[in-house]
Amino acid sequence: MGSLGTLLVCVLCLACASAASLGAVLTEGGMVEGKNINKGLFSSMDVFKGIPFAAPPGRFQYPKPHPGWSGVLKATEFQKRCLQVTLTQTSTRGSEDCLYLNIWVPQGSKVSTGLPVMVYLFGGGFLVGGAQGANFMDNYLYSGEEIADRGKVIVVSVNYRVGSLGFLSTGDANAPGNYGLRDQHAGIAWVHRNIRAFGGDPDNITIFGESAGSASVSLQILSPYNKGIIRRAISQSGVALSPWAINKNPLPLAQKIAQKVGCPINNTTQLMACLRITDPVAVTMAGDLLLFGSTEPIVWNLGLSPVIDGDFIPDDPGNLFHNAEDIDYIAGVNNMDGHLFAGIDVPSLNSNLLETSPEDVKNLLRGLTKEKGEQAANAAYGLYTRNWGASPSKETVKTTVVDAETDFLFLVPTQATLYLHAEKAKTGKTYSYVFNMPSRIPVFPSWMGADHAEDLQYVFGKPFTTPLAYFPRHRDVSRYMIAYWTNFAHTGNPNKGESSVPATWPQFTNLQPQYLEINNKINQNSIKNSLRIPFVQYWTITFHSFPTVANSTAEQ
Ligand SMILES: *[C@@H]1O[C@H](CO)[C@@H](O)[C@H](O)[C@H]1NC(C)=O
Ligand SMILES: *[C@@H]1O[C@H](CO)[C@@H](O)[C@H](O)[C@H]1NC(C)=O
Ligand SMILES: *[C@@H]1O[C@H](CO)[C@@H](O)[C@H](O)[C@H]1NC(C)=O
Repeated sequence: MGSLGTLLVCVLCLACASAASLGAVLTEGGMVEGKNINKGLFSSMDVFKGIPFAAPPGRFQYPKPHPGWSGVLKATEFQKRCLQVTLTQTSTRGSEDCLYLNIWVPQGSKVSTGLPVMVYLFGGGFLVGGAQGANFMDNYLYSGEEIADRGKVIVVSVNYRVGSLGFLSTGDANAPGNYGLRDQHAGIAWVHRNIRAFGGDPDNITIFGESAGSASVSLQILSPYNKGIIRRAISQSGVALSPWAINKNPLPLAQKIAQKVGCPINNTTQLMACLRITDPVAVTMAGDLLLFGSTEPIVWNLGLSPVIDGDFIPDDPGNLFHNAEDIDYIAGVNNMDGHLFAGIDVPSLNSNLLETSPEDVKNLLRGLTKEKGEQAANAAYGLYTRNWGASPSKETVKTTVVDAETDFLFLVPTQATLYLHAEKAKTGKTYSYVFNMPSRIPVFPSWMGADHAEDLQYVFGKPFTTPLAYFPRHRDVSRYMIAYWTNFAHTGNPNKGESSVPATWPQFTNLQPQYLEINNKINQNSIKNSLRIPFVQYWTITFHSFPTVANSTAEQ
């Protein structure tokens, strides 16, 4: 009996030591089966890739429900991105059939139930990007695995249409626009209807996103369409009030795209009838971005973006904050978010050889303030150079360029959003952060802080997934961010939940606009307040007091 008994005990141990798994799951469209990844003793992850949340979309049409399938759908491969230009803008990639989402479910010894859900909206200027993100050696940037595992939450990533096919609008009923935003909403609503079958709590959905995905998060919670569906939201570097988030005059760009593919432009009915039967690859290519050689700051070239369509976005976003009164909200920026764009607008910026002159600063401010003319540019120049002294260092001039671009594109609109959210909130809480971990990009100058998108690697836990590419301090930042983000998804309070945090992050209120500085050295001194008040005041009040002299909306 002795050895047989030992063997029996061992077999039983192995059986009980393996974690639970969902197996096939019944959704509204039919059965889906993913893959179970072993994560160690009593721990595993169910991963579902490429679940359709809507039918393949009609061209320039809103998403419609998927008709469903029979049998068990194998959800084990990521689906294609939505049709889009490549990064070099010389060709296209992806497919029109692209409305799919991915789900990561952490499992212990028993099948998980009632988990909070975090739905991710990717960034890419509303022009490019996909739900799983870029792939380096089979490691996808937006894999939900680390967040789900460490924070005990379900992570979902959603695809949506981008570029011409996602955001072209004639500004009238022929092409109301916002197709990509409607896709995002369809994905979030699918999660709300189906996530219980995966062990999720449909009443604890947090949406989070970065850049255009972050502005999308902001727009989704302001849209009346998501009332009662979304509980919480996190905006990383982008809000509905960002100057690039809404195109208030989309017709000229629709006409320009139509003209490029040989469609009539004087009658929007005919324009759209023609675009609908034109090769979608050609329509997508025609929506490319003029990156270099523009006389204007790059922000004014980002025209394929959401619009105020009178329905999904019923009004100017500033008038919609009552729709978010019960949403808990975290919003923040990277301290040098504008650097990526400043390097395009002021080419000398990253050169060690070329100097950036005060005239370059003046010209950039002229471009950013073009709507209000020379008076506004002069006032801005006075403010941004007020601490320069008689002969500012090269570094001072360069960081001023980055500050101006960061303020205008990201920081100030995010602060304005935080104040409005806090002002209109009923049960919703408000939290503000600045991410300022120094850049890891080796070619950048020594004064570099956190550039646009550098927060993503930490939120998605890359210092843990690929430890050799990082130092322990990077794992610290990553651990902190995942802790705050997933605690927030659990409780609406980033300090309370599954994970301990290095400092208590206080709420942002209009009387005490406190924020957390996020880096590898977080402690009680990382709590600051009144972020860049003179600059927030300039752009939100003084700037608007000047008479308007030109059109501010994006036209290519
Ligand atoms: C959401 O999650 C929290 C914490 O896990 C739980 O207390 C709460 O009941 C859940 N549901 C709602 C609607 O808040
Ligand atoms: C379209 O309108 C423009 C400007 O009003 C005009 O110059 C052009 O001739 C028109 N084209 C056609 C085909 O009607
Ligand atoms: C635009 O074209 C449609 C379809 O050809 C036509 O019915 C409509 O009258 C035209 N509109 C104008 C303002 O010419």
